[in-house]
Amino acid sequence: MSKDLGPESLTEAVIDSFKDTADPRLKAILESLTRNLHNFVRQVSPSISEWEAAINFLTATGRKCDDVRQEFILLSDVLGVSMLVETINDQETPDATDSTVLGPFHMVESPERHLGDNISSESEGDVCVVRGRVLSVTGLPIPNARIDVWQANTTGFYDVQQPGIQSVGNGRGLFRTDENGAFHFRSVVPSFYPIPTDGPVGGLLKASGRHPYRPAHIHFIVTAAGFKELTTHIFIGGSEYIDSDAVFAVKESLIKSFTPNEDPAAAAEFGVDSPFIEGVIDILLHPESQSPSSRFQVSDEVVR
Ligand code: BEZ
Ligand code: FE
Repeated sequence: MSKDLGPESLTEAVIDSFKDTADPRLKAILESLTRNLHNFVRQVSPSISEWEAAINFLTATGRKCDDVRQEFILLSDVLGVSMLVETINDQETPDATDSTVLGPFHMVESPERHLGDNISSESEGDVCVVRGRVLSVTGLPIPNARIDVWQANTTGFYDVQQPGIQSVGNGRGLFRTDENGAFHFRSVVPSFYPIPTDGPVGGLLKASGRHPYRPAHIHFIVTAAGFKELTTHIFIGGSEYIDSDAVFAVKESLIKSFTPNEDPAAAAEFGVDSPFIEGVIDILLHPESQSPSSRFQVSDEVVR
């Protein structure tokens, strides 16, 4: 290890320290991390007290985490990193339904439910029916696909945020598609809501004059044997904040209009009063890759 390292040679020395890393992917990641992080520090040229503030911010972010709160995911979300990771990985499956962020509220098991059940029986608001099919990218229906859904209520809160007001499981459901790959469930149209702002990430938003709101949406994780798991949302068309999601997670293809269905026969079929609001989404899954991981090389693109 050399001594008296300057700003440039220091970077090379740190990279050299990782030269015996056995896993080639890990080695490439450590080199890229070092190069980009050092470039960032050279560019910003922080004072000692600014660097201390950065360490304190990350420490506070860690301290805010517990079994039901993941402040690091929230930080990744508001910095657009969660969405960047999703979007990069989506490029491997361009024909599948777009994915979007998981978010921090998938922290409890959703209750198993039957097709047609109401997932939001404790919530007041506009009743809706959400329905669709799970298909392969070639258009074949996928029976017995597992659909995990969760959503906020009409005041913008998830069950886990309102102990004593909502039971855990309200706004959540685990369904299986039928023999035609179809699914449907009842709920209430969720509201837009603010991401949690009582921690360091909230402080970051405030300091930068950013609002904390997400447009109204319903989360989905869809899994089926032989297919790549998909984490996504349906966004409720026309929702406030659809053009300024605090976590940059909106994709045009995932915005669906939730419109009144005035057909009394449809209402009777779904067991709701007529008219009701209906949202429809077909979810396309990509077959699981048979080939060994085709992870990309770490790009050597230089940060300017
Ligand atoms: C959510 O949609 O549940 C969510 C996503 C990112 C940050 C906070 C909440
Ligand atoms: Fe959400």
